[in-house]
Amino acid sequence: MATNTGSVPASRQVFEMSGENERIIVTSALPYSEAVPHIGNFVGSMLPADVFAKYLRMKGVDSISICGSDQHGTPIEIMAMKKGVDPMALSNEVHEEIKKLLIEFECDYTHYGKTDSEENKETVYELFAALQKNGYIIETAGRRPYCPVDKRLLTDRFIEGTCPNCGAEDARGDQCDTCGHLMDPEELIKPHCAICGSTDIEFRETKNLALNFPKLQPDILEFVKSHSANNWSKNAVNKTLSYIEQGLKPRDITRDISLGFPVPVPGFEDKRFYVWFDAVIGYIGITREWSKERWQRYWKNSGTKLIQFMGKDNIEFHTMMWPGLLIGANSGYVLPHTIIAYEYLNAKGLKFSKSRGRGLNMQNALGIAPADYWRFALVHMLPESADTEFTIAGFAEIVNKIMNDKIGNLVNRVLTLARNNEALLGSSPEGARSAAVDAQIGEYSKNFDAIKIREALHNVIRIAELGNELMSAEEPWALAKKAMASEDASRRFKAAMASLIDTVHVLGVLLYPFTPKASLQTLSYFSSEGEPRLGMLSESAKLARGKEVKPIFSKITDVEIKKMEGFSTME
Ligand code: MF3
Ligand code: ZN
Repeated sequence: MATNTGSVPASRQVFEMSGENERIIVTSALPYSEAVPHIGNFVGSMLPADVFAKYLRMKGVDSISICGSDQHGTPIEIMAMKKGVDPMALSNEVHEEIKKLLIEFECDYTHYGKTDSEENKETVYELFAALQKNGYIIETAGRRPYCPVDKRLLTDRFIEGTCPNCGAEDARGDQCDTCGHLMDPEELIKPHCAICGSTDIEFRETKNLALNFPKLQPDILEFVKSHSANNWSKNAVNKTLSYIEQGLKPRDITRDISLGFPVPVPGFEDKRFYVWFDAVIGYIGITREWSKERWQRYWKNSGTKLIQFMGKDNIEFHTMMWPGLLIGANSGYVLPHTIIAYEYLNAKGLKFSKSRGRGLNMQNALGIAPADYWRFALVHMLPESADTEFTIAGFAEIVNKIMNDKIGNLVNRVLTLARNNEALLGSSPEGARSAAVDAQIGEYSKNFDAIKIREALHNVIRIAELGNELMSAEEPWALAKKAMASEDASRRFKAAMASLIDTVHVLGVLLYPFTPKASLQTLSYFSSEGEPRLGMLSESAKLARGKEVKPIFSKITDVEIKKMEGFSTME
């Protein structure tokens, strides 16, 4: 195998801080705070948003990452009812739990806030007033399902039935979780009340306030056409265009429920804003909650790129309702630059669904394996373009064969060899990087810049493979034994080790967005401090001598696999 021990390859990556004007807001869809998110929910937005935000920081981009709890709407109300507790108390409690779990998962957003805040309320009222003033709010009257037993209108998830689109028997009044079909509750086949189960459903007239989508349609279409080239995921573009093709109808932004922000319009006092209205606006509200001084620098700046991560069931809210309301309000906020919508990570053919208690949530996942392991394995399985099946065997294989065997062992062997043969190492590892490793570093950045996160992880794995190939070709442990007696062996040992040490350093840096703990541990064997920067790769790696080497990853055991099996079959 060709090892480059000569001068720095001409192609060597040069890392520059990004331009003065580049500014990025990264968002993750806001999880409902009725229960701890599921692993499928975590992988669909929170994890990739954090991985990408860490990459941007490594690159030196002026960026913030925003996430928070979605605290209103029927999911919270229904869970609170089931538990017999106050919905806001439940929501605030679960919010704290989620916040803690995200820290344990090493997700360090700039701010993890909430939608039920004064800052968000103010933003909702400000945008609503602007929409009203600009003529985009209209009144709608329509028939809504009503349960005579519970004596209430059954909004959104309060009514369930069979999906007219795919036949799933557990569709809800607002959307079918199985196929993503957006529902008019009148379409549901065999509808029943989600509270008491009654099938004796009446329909009653009620009026609401709506966003005038027909009026916004040309602007929304123009927005999608002009923005979707910015690396939008295909599903986001296609789904949106097909909705628009069918013609947009007015979309209600108020509801007959008690949870949420009151509607400041006479005649609508006992209604509340629709959860999706205040949730998308929550991205701004949460940034305001983060910093009174700095939020505008990001949100009211035409140079800002807003990059949004979500699961595919969130697409239309982010590609139509959200830009639609921003365009209509015309208040100078940035529009979404990139929409990344992931497909589902299924478990045993089911979407991980926390409201139905299936499978693994973030809490019990950490009882099985450390955060780094989940982060790595889940990104490896990231459903970028098709639904993906989560299997325990698949998880174990990624941890054991890739993380442990390919990456962890390489790091451990190289560092141990270096430590045991410090006297034999050359003084300067200059020029130790092969063109092949350099090319992978370039691809890593390219993939990240195009928001192809899973592909960027593959570049990291490939770099480890290159290190392993060099290991077997040169057998540095054997060279070390001969180095005292043979000048040739000594020279080859120095060269191979310089290259391998550089590879380990590269891995330490590039692993950061995926496995921050393992990354920092690896980098602790070098003289480096703090959060890594891509710029560190232009300098040569200097090993800190004399430090005890400990493995960065280990295999998962049968005990852990057993624990996991307990969750995956849970229905
Ligand atoms: N809570 C929603 C869900 O879990 C996502 C809200 S994203 C936001 O599906 F844009 F509204 F914030
Ligand atoms: Zn369906």
